[in-house]
This record gives sequence, C-alpha cells and structure tokens, in this order.
Amino acid sequence: MEKRELLYEGKAKRVFLTDDPNIVIQEFKDDATAFNGEKKGTIIGKGVVNNKISCKLFEMLETKGIPTHLIKFIDDRNMLIKKVEIVKLEVIIRNIAAGSFSKRYGVEEGTVFDSPTFEFSYKEDALGDPLINKYHALAMKIATKEELKTIKKYAFKINEILKDYFIERNVILVDFKLEFGRTNTGEIVLADEISPDTCRFWDKDTKEKLDKDRFRKNLGNIEEAYTEMLKRLS
Ligand code: TMP
Repeated sequence: MEKRELLYEGKAKRVFLTDDPNIVIQEFKDDATAFNGEKKGTIIGKGVVNNKISCKLFEMLETKGIPTHLIKFIDDRNMLIKKVEIVKLEVIIRNIAAGSFSKRYGVEEGTVFDSPTFEFSYKEDALGDPLINKYHALAMKIATKEELKTIKKYAFKINEILKDYFIERNVILVDFKLEFGRTNTGEIVLADEISPDTCRFWDKDTKEKLDKDRFRKNLGNIEEAYTEMLKRLS
C-alpha cells in the first residue's frame, strides 16, 4: 500500500494517508524531544528501533487478546495501521517510582510498588499534558465511562504481559505510557507506540537505564541503549 498525503506530523512520527480511507501509515522519525518539546535533539536510528520494537510488542499483545491498531510491519521506519481517532489521554502505569512520580510525591527513584499505579494526562501539548482524573475526562467528554473502563482494563493487562515479557529478557519495566484509539466501528484499540521513548527500561542486574531517560538526563550512550533494547527483543 502506498503513502499518499501527510495527514499529521507529531514530534516523533508522521502519519500518511493511503488509498484506503480506513488505513494509514505511521512513520517513525529520529527526532527526540523532552519536557514538552523544550529539549530537542536527534537520536540516530531511533525511528527504526522504535518501529521494530512497537511492531513486535503489538503483535505479541494481539496474541494475548489486546486489540491494537497494527495491521503489519512495512519496513524499517513504517508500519501499516488502522486509522483511529486518538483518545486524548496519555495513560501511565508505574511499577517502580521514577520521573514525574518521584518529583511530584517526593518518593525516591527505584522504590518498588506493591501494586502498579494508574494515572492519565489530558493529551494537549499547549497545556503541557496536565494530569486529570476520571471525572475530569468525563466532564470534558474525552471518553465515555465505558471507554475509560476498557482502557483501564487493557492498561493493567498490558502491564502484566509486558512485565513478564521484559523480565525474560533481563529488563525491568519501570513505567510506560499508552495511547488508545477508536476505530471506525467504535472499538477501543491500543495505538501509537510502545518503545524506549514511551517506557522506562532498566537492566535487571546493573539497573542501567535503557530508554529515553538517557536523552532527558544527558546520560550519554543514547543510541547504544536503544540498539541494546532492540537486540534483547530479537
Ligand atoms: P513521567 O515519569 O515523566 O510522568 O513518565 C512516565 C512514563 O511515560 C515514562 O515511561 C515516559 C512516558 N512518557 C511518554 O511516553 N511521553 C511523555 O510525554 C511523558 C511525559 C512521559
């Protein structure tokens, strides 16, 4: 299926139309941003790694009963996906304290939770993706009660699946962000990407960071960390 005109360009990806109105192509760029676009850079090869990792994880999740937008892997930087309307929420699950959780609540990074946390932000760059709760989401008609229930159920299930999947590869899944979309039939499916841009991954033995925190915190060896994650999944 061929790329037609550009439908949407985000910070890390572009979405192109195809001949089929229900199918689009998601292309992964090497552009990296952090802190709501304040910090900008390029991570060479990131797009390829994130596309390959996302395709692999979406395929795996589909076999475990999670519907996703993925139709198929096309090539290094492109995946064929169902055209969805993105639910304007960033859904975050955490197993270990890090990032904004540590900062907001004063909990030391690395503190392991007895059970995972669940939160969501209103996906709106102009507002800096503010944290909201279920009642805010309903009031703003971001999603229906039923959709929120489905999203929460999928998010916790995805966490259980991914935690096991990564630990087998000597990687601790610290936290991650998910996005969901509505298909043309109104079904809620997992969308966007799951990659070192959207997850925190720590090596099980050394606790070395293998994700975008290397870019956010200027830790060096950024490309190496992304490549290492792809290697562990291959
Ligand atoms: P946080 O600790 O900064 O809130 O991030 C939690 C998780 O969500 C972490 O794995 C990184 C991911 N994330 C995104 O994918 N996109 C974002 O814009 C932010 C802020 C976090």
